[in-house]
Amino acid sequence: MKKIGIGVIGAGFMGSMHAKILNNLPNVNLVGIADLNTAKSKELAESLGIKAFKDYHAMLKEKEIEAVSICVSDNNHLKPTVDACKAGKHILLEKPIASDLEEAETIVKEAKKNKVRLTVGHLLRLDPRYYSLRKNVDSGKIGYPLSIFTQRNSPITDGPARYGSKGNLTLHVAVHDVDLILWVMQKKIRRIYAEHVSIALKKLNIEDAIFVTLKFEDGSIGSMHYNWALPKSFPTHIDAKMQVIGTKGYASVDFAEQGLTICGEEGYQWPDVIHWPEINGIIKGDLHEELVSFVDALVNKKEFIITADESFEAVKIALAINESLKKEKVINL
Ligand SMILES: NC(=O)c1ccc[n+]([C@@H]2O[C@H](COP(=O)([O-])OP(=O)(O)OC[C@H]3O[C@@H](n4cnc5c(N)ncnc54)[C@H](O)[C@@H]3O)[C@@H](O)[C@H]2O)c1
Repeated sequence: MKKIGIGVIGAGFMGSMHAKILNNLPNVNLVGIADLNTAKSKELAESLGIKAFKDYHAMLKEKEIEAVSICVSDNNHLKPTVDACKAGKHILLEKPIASDLEEAETIVKEAKKNKVRLTVGHLLRLDPRYYSLRKNVDSGKIGYPLSIFTQRNSPITDGPARYGSKGNLTLHVAVHDVDLILWVMQKKIRRIYAEHVSIALKKLNIEDAIFVTLKFEDGSIGSMHYNWALPKSFPTHIDAKMQVIGTKGYASVDFAEQGLTICGEEGYQWPDVIHWPEINGIIKGDLHEELVSFVDALVNKKEFIITADESFEAVKIALAINESLKKEKVINL
């Protein structure tokens, strides 16, 4: 069996899960992990029996490495991705592709220029619920899609606690829904208007919640609601919905309760069973599927399920939402 040599850049929340999953895939030789924080990379490398690097440039020089998974914070995607392109390594880059349109453009161009294959980790495309909704919409089961609504709420102890004032609610959280909306509706967004509130998280200078209205090129409409300031007592990490109404029907995804309830002294909890649940010591879920699909596309020379151009479009819309908030205006695209 052909094994592909992979390195991971970033040993934080996501990078450590990417490394653990990759280390268990039969067609992967996980070579190393790089993080500026050497304590994090060393600890993870020791537990997985791989090399630890402080500087990812040194890891990119490893001949065995053909591909990298880049899991650094949202605002730092440009440099490691461009350097990986120049080193000729194929790339799985965590979402969003970049936090700035110029940077996103540079990343897409550098990948093409260096003939490097690049995909972005919009893992909800591999969530069976969204996948099935999209398949049904695509097959015409609900007729012509007229409107789409999405919701994504999470507790204040998640994103704001992890990223503080560097976190951006739209680029970090809502970019998932923007990508899903474009993928499900298969039409361009032409007009955007957004409103926000920042009271609970004012001290960090970030938004609590944002509501967005969308108008598509064919006249159909969309609405996005998202919030990352739910109280820490909220029983689950993700309270999400999607509802598509067409000329002949309706398709919806709706979950806060995840099919599993645990009640202890802290009250009810609805733990994640879809994105990265651990089963017999192995991380499964759609994150596992994302990495399996990345490796399968490289080993068996298949198309990536998410193209860099699609990810660029999602960031373009996310940035237009932020522009609407800043200018307090409708943004026409
Ligand atoms: N798909 C999802 O559902 C999901 C969920 C959470 C995070 N993410 C994405 O994953 C990425 C990482 O997020 P996170 O939560 O793991 O962040 P994190 O802060 O936990 O980890 C980021 C790590 O990158 C390291 N780092 C930063 N710059 C570096 C550099 N130049 N070289 C080496 N290491 C560097 C930091 O030291 C840190 O350890 C982000 O793009 C985020 O949006 C995706």
